[in-house]
Amino acid sequence: MKILSVDAYQIFDSRGQPTVEAVVILENGVQGIGLVPSGASTGQFEALELRDGDKARFLGKSVYQAITNIKTELAPALKGKSVNQQSELDKLMCEIDGTANKSRLGANAILGVSLAIADANAKNHGLPLFKTLSPNCSANLLPLPEIQLVGGGAHAQWRTDIQDFLLIVNGAKTYNETLEVTYNIYRTAEMMLKERGLLAGAADEGGFWPTFDSHEAIFEFVVEAIAMAGYQPGIEVSISLDIAASDLYANGRYHLPLDGKSYTSEEFLALMLDWCERYPVLSIEDPFADTDFAAWKAFTHAVGDRIQVIGDDLFTTNLTRIELGIEQKLANSVLIKLNQVGTVSETLQAIAMTQEAGWLPVVSARSGETEDAFISHLAVATNSGQLKVGSFTRSERMVKWNEVIRIERALEGQANFVGGDIFNKLRELELV
Ligand code: PGA
Ligand code: ZN
Repeated sequence: MKILSVDAYQIFDSRGQPTVEAVVILENGVQGIGLVPSGASTGQFEALELRDGDKARFLGKSVYQAITNIKTELAPALKGKSVNQQSELDKLMCEIDGTANKSRLGANAILGVSLAIADANAKNHGLPLFKTLSPNCSANLLPLPEIQLVGGGAHAQWRTDIQDFLLIVNGAKTYNETLEVTYNIYRTAEMMLKERGLLAGAADEGGFWPTFDSHEAIFEFVVEAIAMAGYQPGIEVSISLDIAASDLYANGRYHLPLDGKSYTSEEFLALMLDWCERYPVLSIEDPFADTDFAAWKAFTHAVGDRIQVIGDDLFTTNLTRIELGIEQKLANSVLIKLNQVGTVSETLQAIAMTQEAGWLPVVSARSGETEDAFISHLAVATNSGQLKVGSFTRSERMVKWNEVIRIERALEGQANFVGGDIFNKLRELELV
């Protein structure tokens, strides 16, 4: 089926910031849409999100130029092309852009159209996205969620320096059980924070934004909340961290103002190892800056057989950077964000490259999200096994968790869930 037209317009994300929505209409009238998310703690190696920079309109944040680029450059080139050729169409858009980081047309322009093509293709086949996105026919693995309990860093005006304290319900036997356990811990944590007068607000992804005096106090609180809700920390429920350390790194040192401390790379490495030793940490993302390769390597060497070490800003879903990371054994997992690289097919390639190395992909939302649930389908389509969406509150987050419930139903008893066993793969890695 051929593409009849492509259009785009400005919508607003979960922070109320402008973003791109693209629509692809096929010759038979079927329509697909693509909604583009947006990060706040963005990595320096991400594809470029094009914003107008005109302070008179949305404080410079509008995306009208990206929309014009879709209408005037991408739409004419895509008209008449078959919708089921995602990788060819993505490649064509990259060629029209002509830059390495999609900076001419904007990664937000290209991704909006790429997502809309995938959506139109699925609808044209009358199939759910996870089926048409799947590179083979065996897509049936429901993801283990990573769910934010406490938000900080760039998402909570730096009330804490560490960006995310998340839960992994590694002892759960079903996807639904992970949500029930998370629910119970959320309600317990909320009650504890209220009783102690520590609740300041909600972070950008909807997690609690408390007023703790140190990072140690947050660790102790999270462990206590897990236990108070009736679960065994580490055995049934573990901690996942997103340090987002590139944001903490300046002049060759890591700074934690909340603790009143700053560290050399070696000292920060020792601190990360110490936290992983003393608290039930099962996964840690961006423990070091995206340029501090020596620390990444030493850390992965030390704990990479039992703790998931995720590169987010380190890799930015970029094939060249992931390849380098695999070669140098910098981590053992890759955070997968569509808008860091800017097309659906490059994202699928990034996941495939990660899996071929025996590493674990973690499909992820951005801090600025929309009502779209494409990433839930992406996680199942690729049997990635993990999904990180932010908190367990707010519709732009819940729509992703809820969509997995719908996908499970659509799989009619064929769904698979391995939960925390996904981490067994880490033991097979050669770390030196
Ligand atoms: P971001 O945060 O979307 O603001 O980059 C999410 C993350 O760092 O994982
Ligand atoms: Zn991150």
